[in-house]
Amino acid sequence: MKFQGSDNYVATQDLMLAVNAAATLQRPLLIKGEPGTGKTMLAEEVAAALDMPLLQWHIKSTTKAQQGLYEYDAVSRLRDSQLADIEGSERVKDIHNYIVKGVLWQAFTADAPVVLLIDEIDKADIEFPNDLLREIDRMEFYCYETREMVRAKHRPLVFITSNNEKELPDAFLRRCFFHYIKFPDAETMRQIVNVHFPRLQSELVNAAMKVFYDVRGLPGLKKKPSTSELLDWLKLLVAEEIPVSSLQSEEGKVSVPPLVGALLKNEQDMSLFEKLVFMNQRNR
Ligand SMILES: Nc1ncnc2c1ncn2[C@@H]1O[C@H](COP(=O)(O)OP(=O)(O)O)[C@@H](O)[C@H]1O
Ligand SMILES: [Mg+2]
Repeated sequence: MKFQGSDNYVATQDLMLAVNAAATLQRPLLIKGEPGTGKTMLAEEVAAALDMPLLQWHIKSTTKAQQGLYEYDAVSRLRDSQLADIEGSERVKDIHNYIVKGVLWQAFTADAPVVLLIDEIDKADIEFPNDLLREIDRMEFYCYETREMVRAKHRPLVFITSNNEKELPDAFLRRCFFHYIKFPDAETMRQIVNVHFPRLQSELVNAAMKVFYDVRGLPGLKKKPSTSELLDWLKLLVAEEIPVSSLQSEEGKVSVPPLVGALLKNEQDMSLFEKLVFMNQRNR
């Protein structure tokens, strides 16, 4: 069971190594990196490549650890008990009917090993990772309502992603294997572009990538454009039939690239860029 990248996903050597290391250690793989560097997609691709089902848990600021285990739907039970006919009252008696299983429960009791993605863990409050320590470590938890221990039949392959908005607790980090997805260098980026647009003219790709890395290199940008933004932009350039020449600047001249809204996402960055263009033109 080794992950080697896939036809849709470009995995660098060290990323493949990290995935396989986490699998060997049977520890969650904690993946950090700028937004849009393929963290979420990695879990999807590993699941597809290893032919394992994927269970996803997308974390929000309001998500609680308990929701990943199970929730007891007391309201439905009360309603059923008030409205129930004879058949319904049988249902009310069995509390199992009102336990809503969370992703961890589903992952633990699946018939075959699954890939479990806990996406954007840094969105939740600070207690969230700590509340899951034992479950992730021991792969078991207790359901008080039904008085049963839920244990993993098979250890799931766990991926945890973070955009680095919050620090994670040390006790949590200790239990993970860590990998930081570095922003792709030009060569890797070319492969990624090629995976998405195999038939794209190479002159257009070269010109667009040059503009892209130039924009990324601007000092003081609030939000640097990432892989997914480059891909969006290329898609637009093709759809709008933008000629390569309008991306290529003459020696030393900088201009605002067409459809720049795909790359720069706030007015400060936009005006920073325009200032640069303006200064550049005056200096000529
Ligand atoms: N290594 C890669 N190979 C192929 N596509 C990639 C890669 N990295 C990023 N992408 C593209 O960028 C998009 C955003 O990736 P995503 O996994 O959502 O990023 P993240 O979760 O890190 O914010 C993906 O849908 C994919 O199209
Ligand atoms: Mg993501």
